[in-house]
Amino acid sequence: MHIHNYEKIWLVLAMLLIVAFISTVAYGATAMGVDMISDDEDTIDPGALDEDPRFADPRVEQVGEDEYEAYVVAQQYVFEPDPIEVPEGSTVTFYVTSRDVIHGFEIVGTNANAMVVPGEVSTFTVEFSEAGEYGVLCNEYCGDGHHVMEGSVTVVPEEEYDGGDE
Ligand code: CUA
Repeated sequence: MHIHNYEKIWLVLAMLLIVAFISTVAYGATAMGVDMISDDEDTIDPGALDEDPRFADPRVEQVGEDEYEAYVVAQQYVFEPDPIEVPEGSTVTFYVTSRDVIHGFEIVGTNANAMVVPGEVSTFTVEFSEAGEYGVLCNEYCGDGHHVMEGSVTVVPEEEYDGGDE
């Protein structure tokens, strides 16, 4: 088969482009200290949450003067603990995971809005400057009971707070 020089040039250019694309992707994935998301995801076995020190007993823990950590388990069709009780003026880091399917975790009236995926731990921090009741909604369709899946965060005045364990 005879190939015209003109065509050969285009073939070579096309090959070079492909190599360039692959190199760019490879470089972007490995160089410059970039990690793929899955590398630093906190993974967990959704079937063994009862053996995980963080999630065996879903709770709120005080870790600093006004700093708290909330360990929350979502499952069809509840959030544990419920309510999640924290004091006014606290900064709360949430660790949320799922025991079964994908759920959502939205604290109404705050910027907290996360997807809760089995096998992963969603982490985000919320400051609660005002006492009150905040609704927690599941905003990912998770089955028949999705529309009734809700919880709450109760922010109590500091002097009334008696710790996260109940
Ligand atoms: Cu859980 Cu929708």
